[in-house]
Amino acid sequence: MNKKINWWQPQFGQEEQKLILQVLNDNYPNEGYYSSLFEQKIAKLVGAKYAIAVTSGTAAMFMSLKALGIADGDEVIVPDMTFIATANAVDMCSATPVLVDIDPNTLTIDPKAFKKAITSKTKAVIPVHVTGRAADMKTILTVAEEYEIYVIEDAAEAFMSKYKGKHLGRFGKTGCFSFSPNKIITTGQGGIIVTDDDELHVRLRELKDQGRPVRGTGGDDIHHSRGYNFKFTNLQAALGLGQLTYLDERMKRLVKTHEIYADRLSELDGIEVLLFDTGEEELPLWTDVLIENREKFIDHLKSLAIDCRKFWHPIHTQKPYKLSNNNFPNSTHLASKALWLPSAYTLVEDDINYVCDGIKSYFNDS
Ligand SMILES: Cc1ncc(COP(=O)(O)O)c(C=O)c1O
Repeated sequence: MNKKINWWQPQFGQEEQKLILQVLNDNYPNEGYYSSLFEQKIAKLVGAKYAIAVTSGTAAMFMSLKALGIADGDEVIVPDMTFIATANAVDMCSATPVLVDIDPNTLTIDPKAFKKAITSKTKAVIPVHVTGRAADMKTILTVAEEYEIYVIEDAAEAFMSKYKGKHLGRFGKTGCFSFSPNKIITTGQGGIIVTDDDELHVRLRELKDQGRPVRGTGGDDIHHSRGYNFKFTNLQAALGLGQLTYLDERMKRLVKTHEIYADRLSELDGIEVLLFDTGEEELPLWTDVLIENREKFIDHLKSLAIDCRKFWHPIHTQKPYKLSNNNFPNSTHLASKALWLPSAYTLVEDDINYVCDGIKSYFNDS
């Protein structure tokens, strides 16, 4: 087989083309009718009262924090193993991200480390559902309630994934999803905040549009508060609405891909596939594995035209948030072993079996 096996690949079809053409014909590329329609569909899909579409998952988290009044002098607890956007969203509010270690079994925030890091300045925690795998929301919510801390979910990778039957993103004060190109649906860039809170909803609408409760002519509008421009355009929404039509099919494909990996690689000692609770409808956006000598493994797969993605460096090792390894034994230990196998919904069973054969040949040859 000579086909290149991509780690991920977005795909677009005729639905998006049709909808984008409609937006162009309407001559209204700004936020508008299609943006609202997209918001309504997402709210319905995850069972939220409100969905507020914005320019990115990072903006969704920043706005959630900002709307809750988090500011200079406040601390927000963030897991060490996540995309750096989670910490940057806290920094955008001039608050301090306080990094804590992860649970080695799920790669999500360690609830004990979270509890230990709480101080009188702690205002919020951002559990991250890495790869669509749920953080321990039961414990996190209990601790957060005890200490009166807001929970904002970084569900960037967890759209349509559930925790014990309930959609991720629906446990905290807000849930934040991303629609960047390596997600199950993409709008190029884009994100959405879901919440049931009436007041927060009003505040978020103002924040995303220069403090205006209602957009008028742009000339003599009344601005109630300070705000920004995080509007989500009709063009982005047209992409998103088109993408939603393939959602069921993609979800099934992602579950199947993970099942094949979990099944076929289970007999190998040198690689651990991190499992999902698919019975409770946890959705594996990608398949993540742990492996020693990661570089050698990646080189082997590359020689077979198979592409993987390495996990992020722990945030505490990145220059803007640099700390010693002392408080992060799990993220430090696991980051160099963690890797995402090809998980694109465009891959078919034969492709995944080809990857599994390639992985088996690595262990047989070495
Ligand atoms: C865990 C996580 N958090 C936050 C983000 C940021 O989302 P965005 O790129 O839409 O700003 C991403 C990914 O893109 C992510 O994977």
